[in-house]
Amino acid sequence: MNNKTPEHIAIIMDGNGRWANSRGLPRAAGHRAGVKTVREIVKASAELGVPILTLYAFSQENWKRPKEEVAILMELLEYFLSREIEALRKEGVRLKFIGHLEALPPHILNELHKAVESTKNNKKLILNIALNYGARTEILDAVERIVEKARRGELEMGPDGRITEEIFSNYLYTQGLPDPDLLIRTSGEMRLSNFLLWQLSYAEIYITKKFWPDFTRDDFLRAVHEYQRRERRFGDVQPVLVSGQ
Ligand code: IPE
Ligand code: IPE
Ligand code: MG
Repeated sequence: MNNKTPEHIAIIMDGNGRWANSRGLPRAAGHRAGVKTVREIVKASAELGVPILTLYAFSQENWKRPKEEVAILMELLEYFLSREIEALRKEGVRLKFIGHLEALPPHILNELHKAVESTKNNKKLILNIALNYGARTEILDAVERIVEKARRGELEMGPDGRITEEIFSNYLYTQGLPDPDLLIRTSGEMRLSNFLLWQLSYAEIYITKKFWPDFTRDDFLRAVHEYQRRERRFGDVQPVLVSGQ
């Protein structure tokens, strides 16, 4: 039992398409239903006092999908930002985005910048949205920036003249944020799908069969409770419990 509220929860929101298929609906309907879940889970995180929530919304690999589906996902993102930003701002949510944002359509990029700017002083919850995100690219980007700094002779080193994990982390998109304590994936898939490969090294993993549109506040609380029951050892041995004390 660690009994702690996770400081950072990351979620792979998966299963929108299958949710729609199982109801005889187009995949777009699943994505639309998924937006409602986002709203509910953001609210639940803020209420629970989870300080950071990272949501995987669109991967680099998702560009492989049919053009129409990509277009719908972009529209929904724009809709979410324009409709929800005021409410999020009032609730104390600070928005951040990670990924290769510059490849997104310019009008969406503009909305993203506005959302980041208008919520930058909020303190209750950091809502970090991964868009056009790929973890291997993130690591390669970090390596390139490190090489560039070294070339200019400006690279900071650890005490033994090597690059430490802390230094390396500062070159990732998540710079300044602690690693996720808990990773939730919906729809039962048992893979990381190129999400936060470095940062998830010691995250507790919780996978539910429920599709993202069916995932509720109660399911979210269940995941957090399960996390609180886990014992995190980080390679150490189980602490000895002294009975009668
Ligand atoms: C998650 O649902 C949303 C995104 C990846 C953007 P999917 O669209 O992957 O749904 P399934 O996995 O096909 O059911
Ligand atoms: C991962 O889901 C990406 C997001 C949730 C945005 P996918 O549905 O794209 O992952 P795979 O293809 O099943 O691995
Ligand atoms: Mg999927």
